Amino acid sequence: MNLADLNKVALAMVTPGKGLLAADESSGTIKKRFDAIKVVSTEDSRRDYREMLFRSQEAMSKYISGVILYDETIWQNAKDGTPLVRLIEQAGAIPGIKVDEGTQALPACPGELVTSGLDKLAERLAKYYERGARFAKWRAVIDIGGGTGGLGTAGRAIPTMTAIRVNAHALARYAALCQAAQIVPIVEPEVLMDGDHDIDRCYDVTQRVLNRTFQELRVQRVALEGMILKPNMAISGKKCAKQASVEEVAEKTVRLLKSCVPAAVPGIAFLSGGQNDEEATAHLDAMNKIGHLPWRLTFSYGRALQAAPQQAWAGKADNVAAGQRAFSHRARMNGLASTGTWDAGLEKQAA
Ligand code: 13P
Repeated sequence: MNLADLNKVALAMVTPGKGLLAADESSGTIKKRFDAIKVVSTEDSRRDYREMLFRSQEAMSKYISGVILYDETIWQNAKDGTPLVRLIEQAGAIPGIKVDEGTQALPACPGELVTSGLDKLAERLAKYYERGARFAKWRAVIDIGGGTGGLGTAGRAIPTMTAIRVNAHALARYAALCQAAQIVPIVEPEVLMDGDHDIDRCYDVTQRVLNRTFQELRVQRVALEGMILKPNMAISGKKCAKQASVEEVAEKTVRLLKSCVPAAVPGIAFLSGGQNDEEATAHLDAMNKIGHLPWRLTFSYGRALQAAPQQAWAGKADNVAAGQRAFSHRARMNGLASTGTWDAGLEKQAA
């Protein structure tokens, strides 16, 4: 492992003014997104859509530091035969790859999940590196049980410590394997925002999850300088009657991260997790306006970057330019948020 080079890539991923495009939806997830815009999901339509994004010159060269790809996409070529990874590199961004293989039910913990994909991971990482990937992603999913007591179906609090520990262990196993393969791991322990819990319960659960994750990363000798953290924000559950303000989300998220994330970590790139486009931007901007942070804070958004271009494109070749404009607009807004220089008034300018 060459830690200086890993650190260089990690810092490039969180270049001020830029952030990551999460375009790594599994075939099942992208089908759901395409269903919503009435586009049939085929290998070609998925390729056309992603080619449209990666050829968005303004977004890709100015505001996107790297793109997380799904296995199918990293091997695909653009219509003219150019590998999609080359399009990303030509725009000056870094290709990355989602390497987890989704979630499975966690035995003896009803309603909870563990992420799989560690078997043969070392071999897969070597192939991805050869293809151009310089960073990877692994997503652990932690649910917060419904109801005020957070009780799950078995009458125990969800998340259980079991779910937190096995997912943290797997994240650290993955991260160590990535670094051994000279690939920067994005460590993503996502506490879901589904549910009716309030922001303080999200804060508490996320704190337990992050503390356990960093404990495992240390045990497994992951070099913090050569990784990126991709967490959820401290935020109210979607079904919570009392939605926290932008200022409260920003203040609590910064406080939470300061209490759990060592300063050796070069950067934190948030997931959007179901926030609407403008909320995701406003929250990131408000955190960067607080300032005096030991790490760079940016975005690694999927839905909050892609919802607008998907709507504008709607599967029609004639709409490619409109799709690219919509993508470039969201990328620019989030790029500004990554330096705390976004303003809600900018949203009114034509996308
Ligand atoms: P969202 O921003 O849509 O949550 O996706 C980011 C991601 O990569 C989740 O794993």
